Amino acid sequence: MPQNELSNREKSLYCPRQRYLDIIRRNISHSKHTLLLAPCGLGKSLLVRDLFESEKKDKSRSANTTFVALDLARVSISPENFAQEFIGSIAAANDRAQAGGALAYEDIDFLLQQKYSGEVREILSRIRNELQKIKPDQRLILTQAFACAEQFAADNNRKLVIALDDAEQLLGFDNFPQIRDSAQLFADATKRSKNVVYILISSFVSEMRKRFSHSLDTQSLDIVNLESFSAQETRQLAEKILGKMDERVAAQMHHWCAGIPSVTVSLAEKLVQAHINVKDVASVPKIKDIFAQEIASPASLIYQYTKEEFSTALVHARGASLLKSIVRVVALHDNLRLTEIARKVYRSGPVTKSLLDRLGEVDLIKKKDSTFEFQNPIVKNWCKAYFAGLELSKDAAGEEIEQVKKLIS
Ligand SMILES: Nc1ncnc2c1ncn2[C@@H]1O[C@H](COP(=O)(O)OP(=O)(O)OP(=O)(O)O)[C@@H](O)[C@H]1O
Ligand SMILES: [Mg+2]
Repeated sequence: MPQNELSNREKSLYCPRQRYLDIIRRNISHSKHTLLLAPCGLGKSLLVRDLFESEKKDKSRSANTTFVALDLARVSISPENFAQEFIGSIAAANDRAQAGGALAYEDIDFLLQQKYSGEVREILSRIRNELQKIKPDQRLILTQAFACAEQFAADNNRKLVIALDDAEQLLGFDNFPQIRDSAQLFADATKRSKNVVYILISSFVSEMRKRFSHSLDTQSLDIVNLESFSAQETRQLAEKILGKMDERVAAQMHHWCAGIPSVTVSLAEKLVQAHINVKDVASVPKIKDIFAQEIASPASLIYQYTKEEFSTALVHARGASLLKSIVRVVALHDNLRLTEIARKVYRSGPVTKSLLDRLGEVDLIKKKDSTFEFQNPIVKNWCKAYFAGLELSKDAAGEEIEQVKKLIS
């Protein structure tokens, strides 16, 4: 999540989600950490960027609070490098270093030359000592990094709000034998923090919820699920791009975009390019035409969004080969029960069940009543076209698009 302000384009399309802004603000003022969860493209990063921007503008709040945003996808996930990059970002924000100078802050020797308090210097020295060892204590390094944030805030007598985007990256520390349980380490290091409040942002909904609710109690952590856009919110967003819409056209948009704002923006822009008259109810079927074309065209943003969602989940689930067979079966046949899926993948009921559970843990498939379906309707439609071998080029003919339209729902 870049620290920069919302661009003019982002501002003009932005639909504020007041309820969530209020919840996070309340958590900050109660010194409670927030775990903000939602699938990709739902607006988590934008929400927190908007919150930080408005908080920074509010003089009464920004007078005693420092806001730091870090995208963990861009930060090293090794204890040695993470500690320096993490502390560096906080120190730079504290000293209001310009972006150009901020990199210097990632060097612990540079930090030790600055005029920080004795306590901060002590933590920094402890980390530096470990860094010089052949076998450093990686647990200690990581714990001290979080402690350093606390100390910085205490020294400045300011609250520190740290947003960690792509926070599932923290789980990467599990690969270090001295750490193993990174969620627990984070919890232990931040549970009693008085001056630092974290906002952890992630699209790994089930896994992050499980790991962090296990390690932190509800007094220290509020788990917030950012819901999909309602039909009304989708309409509000789409109308910013398309102008006033017929009610039934708006309902179609919402159906195909499944309340995901990034997809809504992409589809609305396609409708503009195709000169669809959204005031006219006769356009309803044309929206399905355009969605069908987008979901099966590798060059389209909606295709890329979905493929990324799908691939990330499968990579994350590991053991991809059998899992893929199951996803394929669920995509190509609606409303299958466990026994029917098991038969189609030639595995026993219990083996199939544990594979389906794994696909649930990575937010791909869910059980509804006694059958299985995709969690994200857009991923479902993409998988239907993809596994059916349908792929459209820019100049796809009506007949090919018809084939995709028959599959999607
Ligand atoms: N509240 C909103 N109003 C208008 N558009 C929005 C809103 N939220 C999200 N969007 C649109 O969706 C896009 C994706 O939003 P964002 O990057 O915040 O999603 P995300 O949940 O952080 O996704 P990821 O998990 O992939 O990082 C934005 O660039 C914007 O076009
Ligand atoms: Mg994001």
